[in-house]
Amino acid sequence: KARTVLLATEKAFAAGAVNKIEDVCKAAKYTLKRLENYKSKDELLAAVADVDAMIIRSDIVDQAVLDKASKMKIVVRAGAGYDNIDLKACEAKSITAMNTPGQNANAVAELVFGMMIVSARNNFDGTSGFELVNREIAFYGFGAVARAVHKLAQGFGMKSFAYDPYIPADQIQAAGATPVSSVAELFDHQYVSLHVPLTNETKDSINKALLGKMPKGGTLINTARTEVVHEADMIEVLKTRPDFCYLCDVAPKDIEPYKAAVGDKYGTRLIFTKKKMGAQTAEANDNAGVAAANQIVGFFEKGETRFSLKA
Ligand code: 3PG
Repeated sequence: KARTVLLATEKAFAAGAVNKIEDVCKAAKYTLKRLENYKSKDELLAAVADVDAMIIRSDIVDQAVLDKASKMKIVVRAGAGYDNIDLKACEAKSITAMNTPGQNANAVAELVFGMMIVSARNNFDGTSGFELVNREIAFYGFGAVARAVHKLAQGFGMKSFAYDPYIPADQIQAAGATPVSSVAELFDHQYVSLHVPLTNETKDSINKALLGKMPKGGTLINTARTEVVHEADMIEVLKTRPDFCYLCDVAPKDIEPYKAAVGDKYGTRLIFTKKKMGAQTAEANDNAGVAAANQIVGFFEKGETRFSLKA
C-alpha cells in the first residue's frame, strides 16, 4: 500500500541523513514529505493532514496535531526523550508512538566530555586548570547515554558511580560502574551527569539539598532536560558557591539570571550551548533518522511494535 511519511523537524537533520531516510522510504515504495525548519505550528498542522506516519525530533505532538492527523497510524521520535509527545492522546486515537533509544547516545556522550574539558581548562584562557583522570563521575539514570558517557570516562581513567531506579545494581556493576543506593548518594561525587527523562517525578528534582551536598568543585552536567533542575535553587547555588559549575546542553529560556550569578566565569563555571545540540552530529542524525524510517516500514509491513511507548 502506498504510504506517506512526514518528516517534521523544527531543528533539521543534516542533509545526508534526510537522503538516507528518503532511501528507506523509496525502497518500501513510500513517499517522504518534508517539513524541515518550520517556523509555526500552523505549518505542522497543515502538513500532518494526509500522512500515514510521521518522524519528529523534539517537535511537540499534542492533541491539536493529532486531531489534524486523521490518517496517521504511527509517530516516531527520532531520538530518546519523548516528553514532547502526548502519549495518552496517541493511545486514545490508536496511534502508535515510538522512540529510537540509543541511536544518538554517543553524540551526547562526546558533548558531555567536550563541556567537561572546556570547564576544567578554564575555557582555554591560559590559566592553570585540572585533569579529569582519577576524578569521580556519578550518573543519575543508566540508560544508553549514561553508558556511553561511562565508556568514555573509563578511557579517561575516571571512576564511575550510578543510580537508576529501573536498573538493578548488579547490571550497573556488570557494566563496570559502582552502583549507589539513592539519588542523594550520587551527589557525594565531584561530577554528576543527568540521564533521566523528564517526568512528573524528575521535574525540578535536582534541588538545593542535592546540589549543596556536592564536594569542592562540584559540577552538574545536564544533557537531559532543563526542567529536571530546580531553576531558582540552581541560580542560588551558583551565586553562593564560587567553586560550583553547571554544564548544560539545554539552555533555559532566560539565561541572564544564571549569567549574573557567575559573572566573568560564564563559559567556564557555567556553559550553555546555543541550542540543544547533544544529538546534532551527522552520525546521530543518520542513526536516529534511519532507525525511525525503518521502524515505520517494519510497523506497516511486518506489524513490528518494538520500541513502542506506553502512556
Ligand atoms: C533526545 O531526547 O534524543 C535528545 O534530547 C535529542 O533531541 P533532539 O532530536 O531534539 O536534538
